[in-house]
Amino acid sequence: MVLYNAPTNKMLVDEIVDAHVLVIGSGGAGVRAAVEASRYGGVVMVSKTIAGKGGCTTMAEGGYNAVLRDRDSVDVHREDTLKGGAYLNDPALVDALVREAPERMTDLVRWGAVFDVTDDRQVAQRPFGGQRFPRTCYAGDRTGHEMIMTLLDRLDATDTHLYQEVSVIDLIKDENDAVAGAIALDRDGDVLLFRADATVLATGGGTQAYDISTNSAAGTGDGFAMAYRAGAELIDMEMIQFHPTGAIYPYDARGRLVTEAVRGEGGILLNARRERFMERYDPDRMELSTRDVVARAIATEVLEGRGTSRGGVYLDVTHLPAETIEARLPVMLEQFLAYGVDIRREPMEVAPTAHHIMGGLRITPECRTTLKGLFACGEVTGGVHGANRLGGNALADTQVFGKRAGEFAGKAPARSGRIDDAAIEEKFRMLDGFFEGAVNPTDVRKDLKLTMWNQAGIFRSAPDLRTALTHIRRLADKRLCAASTANLLECCTVRNMCTTASLIVRCALLRPENRGAHIRLGWRHEDDYDPGLALRSRRRHGAAPREVRYPGK
Ligand code: FUM
Repeated sequence: MVLYNAPTNKMLVDEIVDAHVLVIGSGGAGVRAAVEASRYGGVVMVSKTIAGKGGCTTMAEGGYNAVLRDRDSVDVHREDTLKGGAYLNDPALVDALVREAPERMTDLVRWGAVFDVTDDRQVAQRPFGGQRFPRTCYAGDRTGHEMIMTLLDRLDATDTHLYQEVSVIDLIKDENDAVAGAIALDRDGDVLLFRADATVLATGGGTQAYDISTNSAAGTGDGFAMAYRAGAELIDMEMIQFHPTGAIYPYDARGRLVTEAVRGEGGILLNARRERFMERYDPDRMELSTRDVVARAIATEVLEGRGTSRGGVYLDVTHLPAETIEARLPVMLEQFLAYGVDIRREPMEVAPTAHHIMGGLRITPECRTTLKGLFACGEVTGGVHGANRLGGNALADTQVFGKRAGEFAGKAPARSGRIDDAAIEEKFRMLDGFFEGAVNPTDVRKDLKLTMWNQAGIFRSAPDLRTALTHIRRLADKRLCAASTANLLECCTVRNMCTTASLIVRCALLRPENRGAHIRLGWRHEDDYDPGLALRSRRRHGAAPREVRYPGK
């Protein structure tokens, strides 16, 4: 029950929890951080869902990139990642990723994760887009689920205290302006104050801000918004990855991930005229081009009238042996059978779906943010993936930087600053305000998602972005109304979604160039290095073909 101070109707703290390290988020990065931090002192992990059920790791299908073979090399993985990210990545973070991904993979195997293996019992690897070597390790097409179950087992063996279905609503700072923990609400509306020497933000992504998204319901961008409010530096928030292949029907399944592993295993993309259209956008890499190129190619086919009647394209694996589909893509097979489509005999229909935010908190290789006391890892951070992430690099990112965040937070000294009552009261004022509001937060959520999808999607123009920003600001200013405790959380969530959306749009306005996943319509530049875009702008402007090269190619 919410405790009210009866005469003033003010909320009070119901529980105070002290820890050495507070980990916010229970996806792959958060659990890995907690496992590591538990070697140094008391760890508390707060999850807004049931751990292992809600985050994006558990939904990750395709795989984990790691250099495991002599014929591959970390230098090639580094180059692929930088080139895929249109060279916006932080090279030091990429270096850590590619060097440590294999060792973190070994941790998972040692802890019991069952990945697919080759006949000689080595971890099997499949090709993924934008990579010159098949380096994506997998457990069928439920890789993330295998990982998170293994990590949670491992977490169980530590002394970590897990708070589930508890939503952090804001970070708390002490008198020295250091992050000193967080304030949270549980399902019943009880208020919890977590105090810690070091806080690890591992809240994942936020593409729920878009109408069509692969993200679980939890992907509402809370971490970006909380860190921004606390004064952290965020980078590259305009870089939104649209996964090329999301389900387009039935309505309830719109946006659901159709793993890149389908193309890795040999799936081909066809438009409604049954043309293998990737020949026009990236004839060398075809369906295994980078995601930014493939998503734009599909969107272009649909926009130019060559899509299916449902507004997508076909993804076809009917030429593959049925046994390959059954063994390597069992979840896809089952998922589409449930929609009445047997992918062994008929093609899937797919379209791009908002999948991943490449931007986020600026971090050092030790996962320090620009705020004292605050560490961050996983999708809430920026810099690892630059302007476009390679499929399979996100799961590796969770393990490499989860471990690093846990280690460096664990080694953090005891906090000395006092937490001022005023810092807590300020949060209560915000919550109290929701009881006095008038607007249903769910209406704002729907409006926001459509605005982002229509005006800050794959192709962006300055007028659209400006219109979107004005509208988002209007939505953010609405006085949201909490008619119940559940609604109170929805108010906090929608407020975070508005903040995340406005960061995306403001950053998109600040980048008048085409880079990776960020395409500004009308932008022309001789050095434009994106073949998919080059083709599109040539058609639009009726100009002669230009020769386009990726740098270094
Ligand atoms: O397509 C996929 O399986 C997604 C993988 C990823 O985003 O890394």
